[in-house]
Amino acid sequence: MGNNNRDHDSMERKSAGLCDAYGRTIDYLRISLTDRCNLRCRYCMPMEGIPALKHDEILTLEEVERIAKVLTGMGIRRIRLTGGEPLVRRNMLSLVQRLGALEAKPELAITTNGILLEEYLEDFLAAGLKNINISLDTKQPETFRELTGMDGLDRVLRSIEKAVALGMRVKLNSVLIRGVNESEMAELAGMAKELPVDVRFIELMPIGPASGLRGVPREEILTRLKLEYGECEGVGGQRKSSSLPDAGGPAQYVLFQGFQGRVGFISPLSHAFCESCNRVRLTADGRLKLCLFYPDGPSLLPLVRGGCDDETLRKVILEGLQRKPKCHGFGNLDAPKEAKEARNMNQIGG
Ligand code: GTP
Ligand code: 5AD
Ligand code: SF4
Repeated sequence: MGNNNRDHDSMERKSAGLCDAYGRTIDYLRISLTDRCNLRCRYCMPMEGIPALKHDEILTLEEVERIAKVLTGMGIRRIRLTGGEPLVRRNMLSLVQRLGALEAKPELAITTNGILLEEYLEDFLAAGLKNINISLDTKQPETFRELTGMDGLDRVLRSIEKAVALGMRVKLNSVLIRGVNESEMAELAGMAKELPVDVRFIELMPIGPASGLRGVPREEILTRLKLEYGECEGVGGQRKSSSLPDAGGPAQYVLFQGFQGRVGFISPLSHAFCESCNRVRLTADGRLKLCLFYPDGPSLLPLVRGGCDDETLRKVILEGLQRKPKCHGFGNLDAPKEAKEARNMNQIGG
């Protein structure tokens, strides 16, 4: 056995799973099923859209399943499907069903804008997908149209209510933007009072069109929420143990009295969580993306399409993982431009 193989073996043994060069356990995979989206959120995608990947440039669902099978065999315990909007990918339900049937039984999750979700919910539940994160930046139909370019708030709200009624674990994602929806922070947080859902405020990351917009700092949001709802207690949440249902997630949570769900903050710039990063991404075009901020990572598409065996795939994945960056470079003006991710969020999957 060569040295390389020995290194790989010990990397896998160390934590009975996958481990990167900084000792972080990697047990979470975000799979972007498509770069396409049925909305045009101002901070995510330009209104005119961007040239979408062509059919043969993206992994087939069978190829995604194969890679997921290999990765869950290596230690991935949780798979989150993302996009663009994952529900616009044709036949995506069949993939969910096949992921639900994987021998390693990964925990399944999805992040969606909620527009098409309502009709999928029962099938998701039957396939074992219970964790649903839904974007909700506003409760005003007018603002929804201004922010997303479409009408559709009613459909999103119906999806949320139905997912809750079915007993699914629902988290709402809100990105606050100065002058656009900042006045709604209390009302959005109030969804966690009304319903058993977590509401998370996500700090705007300067990617693509978001670079020209201003977000709202976590401290300002918390101050406003305390005025409205009184004191709250910190209930932690961020990446303590991978055996907890939402551990490994980047959110830090608080609980207000009388609320059914928690209010969370995901603040990659002001309160970075890279030290406990547990994730890698698979992009729609088949790259194993090592960090949200950087484009790097091995391209698995030519390998799976070229008929490589599982052993080769594992070797490439393990080698790639050792190059996972220590931290993002948001806010580091000296980071070389060519090293940064040039793609928009719809192509990364968040
Ligand atoms: P769970 O932990 O499985 O609940 O998922 P999540 O909260 O990470 O998933 P979701 O897709 O809802 O993402 C919420 C926000 O967190 C999105 O804006 C993501 O872009 C952001 N996010 C998720 N993971 C990372 C990460 O590793 N780094 C950074 N910088 N942002 C992330
Ligand atoms: N900064 C922060 N969050 C973003 N999202 C999309 N673009 C950005 C950005 N630039 C969020 C969406 C969705 C989640 C997957 O990522 O609102 O909830
Ligand atoms: Fe992990 Fe990169 Fe996200 Fe930091 S920015 S938490 S290193 S994926």
